[in-house]
Amino acid sequence: MTARRPMIAGNWKMYKTCAEAEETARGIVELLHGSEETDIMIAPPSTALVPVSRIIGDTPVDLGAQNLFWENQGAYTGEVSAPMLISAGCRYVIIGHSERRQYFGETDQDVNKKIRAAIAAGLVPVFCIGETESERDSEKTFSVLDKQLEKGLEGLSEEQFRPGLIAYEPVWAIGTGKTATPQQAQDVHAYIRTFLKKRFSPETAEATRILYGGSVKPANTAELMALADVDGALVGGASLKPEIFAEIIHYKR
Ligand code: PGA
Repeated sequence: MTARRPMIAGNWKMYKTCAEAEETARGIVELLHGSEETDIMIAPPSTALVPVSRIIGDTPVDLGAQNLFWENQGAYTGEVSAPMLISAGCRYVIIGHSERRQYFGETDQDVNKKIRAAIAAGLVPVFCIGETESERDSEKTFSVLDKQLEKGLEGLSEEQFRPGLIAYEPVWAIGTGKTATPQQAQDVHAYIRTFLKKRFSPETAEATRILYGGSVKPANTAELMALADVDGALVGGASLKPEIFAEIIHYKR
């Protein structure tokens, strides 16, 4: 049996003004009752981090950012650093999301620098990996994931990495309504855990939470969460409405 605490995380992407984000956060907090066994995180756009952190305050909801830059400060117009995210109330930061890789040219090396910067500042990275549809079709899934994992975690010691999280997000399942089948998700999650075992140790592999992301919705959460190596969900579209996100949080009901 697994001792890993389940985690449901919401990635709001580039949605919501401050007022909208506050309203959504308030809605989620109101619907939390009975979710004590699950860790919950929401990642609003950076403008809404501070207002949302005031709303979630001492509730069980944690704050996450969607990105960061690896330097602590400097002449990097438009960027936000790990210490700044900490000062805004963040505990987590999503790193290497496929949209960042695809639209903003983020490389595995960039992802590695970001993970190191996050850890150095005391943030918990949610390290995203995943293959595209054509990579899956040409049976490159595992080699792609190997490369992302190897490069993303380069130079990190086991102590530094723990308690990091990994999110497996097949690119073809993000925002498409196509979810990985339970078999596909379990196969990849087990593969990632084996990778962690070899890269770090059996203990760290066992302790690391691996989230699934890609068209998670209330109707498929329980099935995904029942898989042996799926420890949580990173939810995009379905995290934008409190009632729907709360249904996912309460997937056991
Ligand atoms: P989705 O996005 O749930 O809208 O598919 C998931 C993600 O990008 O994290």
